[in-house]
Amino acid sequence: MKPAISVLGTGRMGSALARALLQAGYRTTVWNRSAEKTGPLATAGATVAASVREAVDAAEIVVVNVTDYSATAALLHSDDVASAIRGKLVLELTSGTPHGAREAGRWAVEHGATYLDGAIMATPDFIGTDHGTILVSGTRQAFDAGKEMLGALGGNVQHIGEDLGLANALDSALLALMWGALFGALHSVAVCRAEKIDLDELARQWTASASVVDGLVADLIKRTNAGRFASDDETLSSISPHYSSFQHLLELMQAREIDRSVVDGYDGIFRRAIAAGHLHDDFAALSQFLGKAG
Ligand SMILES: NC(=O)c1ccc[n+]([C@@H]2O[C@H](COP(=O)([O-])OP(=O)(O)OC[C@H]3O[C@@H](n4cnc5c(N)ncnc54)[C@H](OP(=O)(O)O)[C@@H]3O)[C@@H](O)[C@H]2O)c1
Repeated sequence: MKPAISVLGTGRMGSALARALLQAGYRTTVWNRSAEKTGPLATAGATVAASVREAVDAAEIVVVNVTDYSATAALLHSDDVASAIRGKLVLELTSGTPHGAREAGRWAVEHGATYLDGAIMATPDFIGTDHGTILVSGTRQAFDAGKEMLGALGGNVQHIGEDLGLANALDSALLALMWGALFGALHSVAVCRAEKIDLDELARQWTASASVVDGLVADLIKRTNAGRFASDDETLSSISPHYSSFQHLLELMQAREIDRSVVDGYDGIFRRAIAAGHLHDDFAALSQFLGKAG
């Protein structure tokens, strides 16, 4: 028989998680601080718990999805709830830091629970679909115990490793890529507006060139992993042409009075690498200029 599951937190994401569990046939109990958000889930077949303790008592697996780990701690760390958590599998799907996940895991294990930490790499509309991606850290045994339920939440659920911090660390790394693209888009829009280029034209040309950028990112990761920083026959572009094109962007932004704070940061990385003699190296050589771990 499928285990009973409780979902603590039914905001946008928590509601999607609870719906996916209901659709997969799990007996699902929900609790939310603002009770009105549980109404649509009750209509969909969920049991609504009157308290966190009641929700924890009702389930073998407790899924938590609130804003941050301090909110999770506020829910679980009362004596009443902490004493009920023994023997449960806690799946923390709230976003957080690697350190936060390790601390939360330590607390759960000290109180007799099994703990998995997951990072959701999807928006709520992807939950319960084949394309829903969730990265999970924790012991292999705990992952295997929760695997079927995790499969109901997304078709792409990956065990990242036993160190509880790994899922959140990879989450932050992937979000760095996402924000690089989104802040890049803000700069593109600002340049187009300043130069009176139709934003529909920008959208069309981005669609045409996005695969080139995807290829450059994949190549940078591969070369950095292999430590292949010197230019070679497979180099797509050395730092030199990137830097001269980048100067055109800086000049244009300066002339049009567009905020340069982000791109000036890029300029600093270029300059440090060039000063150290890497002008003609592969672009991947810049990865050595982002601090200790670079
Ligand atoms: N939405 C996404 O696309 C997405 C994608 C990946 C990961 N996530 C992660 O999923 C988590 C939830 O995101 P969301 O989009 O569902 O946010 P949301 O709609 O704002 O929901 C936040 C939830 O946290 C609860 N909460 C906040 N502080 C609380 C506290 N002190 N005590 C008890 N409950 C508290 C809220 O309760 P009330 O309803 O009472 O305010 C609500 O249930 C976040 O960690 C987010 O980073 C979201």
